[in-house]
Amino acid sequence: MAKQEDKFKHVISHAKEYGYVFQSSEIYDGLSAVYDYAQNGVELKKNIREYWWKAMVQMNENIVGLDSAIFMHPKIWKASGHVDAFSDPLIDNKDSKKRYRADVLVEDYVGKLDTKIEKEVKKAAKRFGDAFNKSEFLSTNPRVLGYKEKGDAILKRLGQSLEKEDLADVKALIEELEIACPLSGSRNWTDVKQFNLMFGTKLGASAETAMDLYLRPETAQGIFVNFLNVQKTGRMKIPFGIAQTGKAFRNEIVARQFIFRMREFEQMEMQFFIKPGTQGDWYKYWKEARMKWHLSLGLGEDNYRFHDHEKMAHYADAATDIEFRFPFGFKELEGIHSRTDFDLKAHEEHSGKKLQFFDHEENKSYVPYVLETSVGLDRMFLAVFSNSLQEEELENGTTRTVLKLPAVLAPTKAAILPLVKKDGLPEVARKIVEDLKWDFNVTYDEKDAVGRRYRRQDANGTPFCITVDHDTLNDDSVTIRHRDTMEQQRVKISELKGIIEQEVSMKTWLMKM
Ligand code: GAP
Repeated sequence: MAKQEDKFKHVISHAKEYGYVFQSSEIYDGLSAVYDYAQNGVELKKNIREYWWKAMVQMNENIVGLDSAIFMHPKIWKASGHVDAFSDPLIDNKDSKKRYRADVLVEDYVGKLDTKIEKEVKKAAKRFGDAFNKSEFLSTNPRVLGYKEKGDAILKRLGQSLEKEDLADVKALIEELEIACPLSGSRNWTDVKQFNLMFGTKLGASAETAMDLYLRPETAQGIFVNFLNVQKTGRMKIPFGIAQTGKAFRNEIVARQFIFRMREFEQMEMQFFIKPGTQGDWYKYWKEARMKWHLSLGLGEDNYRFHDHEKMAHYADAATDIEFRFPFGFKELEGIHSRTDFDLKAHEEHSGKKLQFFDHEENKSYVPYVLETSVGLDRMFLAVFSNSLQEEELENGTTRTVLKLPAVLAPTKAAILPLVKKDGLPEVARKIVEDLKWDFNVTYDEKDAVGRRYRRQDANGTPFCITVDHDTLNDDSVTIRHRDTMEQQRVKISELKGIIEQEVSMKTWLMKM
């Protein structure tokens, strides 16, 4: 655990030191669970967004984009169910006065059982060596099965209690599991209460006429209320999708874990409109498609898993999370929900307008069903960043800190380094920067010894360093160093663009899907 915590602290401090993420309003002592993306962070975030957008919109003929406003008519949130049902069950510890999400306390308890299972697997893998069969072990080892059964039973009960709004039972579960407050260590809990997560604000000049608004807690509703506009103007036929990226706001009470749970964050959502009755097949399709997208980034297959929901959100008939192994354990990265016709029907009722599709093949109108994929951009950022940050032992006994970001997402693709600051080498290096900057984000660096500059770029996540030396002046060749392998190659300046392109282009990476 201590090792995990250290790793996570390192992630946070590295993100600050290398200009990726800063605490918001830091000079005023910060604003909790709100963060700013710095010079490198903004590039990484933009690249992740673009990687998602291309995979969703550019590569799918029947998916189009949208950028709806953050402010929307307040009736939308009544129709969507957010006014009545978008709340978290909270519980306070009477000794520490600290407030927790009751469901998260229970889920963390189950997470510890998962960690125990992982330990058993590691022990057995060591004991049996090559003969070890992980899936057989997981399905037969009595201790593992015991932990699994216990975890499943707890989550099932939690799901059922939340579904029935039986908050007394959620408290009873916390007491039965003897969950203690991590701060005070006591089990002196208040009752569990629901708390709405939407931020309110006002639109209008005077207090009397101002209209109460909410900051949107998800981007999805902007898609639903534009469904017919897009369908008609884009002449879209079912099945088709609308994709959108943008800010969402939630008054998270238990905001922690850096950019994992923020009060202002960004979502990348896609609503796929389908014929009623086909949702089972499309649910399966999008589960697979989204997992393939994640795996294409090469962060390691073992770091992902599905977690099918027992407790559905108020709008879903089937739901799963794609979970990722963050530095603090497996947690939700993306949600895939079969939303039925809940949203469109609700907006029909509340707006009095029809939101139906006329199906020429069937010769009838219907309210489409919806399959949703929803991934947090900031969580993607944290997944990519934390997974990429590594301490490597080198052959000469030293260690290097390297940020092995997928090259397609790296903020800076190449650093151009003159070996020395004289003899005409800076001029050649500057010329290479001038040529490459039309195609890639590149940087020029002449300060310090070249070894130190390599280390700086490694820690920054730059996939290539290109060194200009005295031989360059005669043979138009440079040394290109690969961040991950540290291998160096001598290549012609004219070849640089092609070499970098091959490694960083979205096409190369998306083709792995
Ligand atoms: N439209 C469906 C929806 O909003 P959700 O599971 O509440 O579903 C989707 O959110 C995704 O948004 C999550 O999987 C997560 O990646 C991201 N997300 C949700 N709340 C967040 C928060 N407070 N901070 C950062 N990301 C968040």
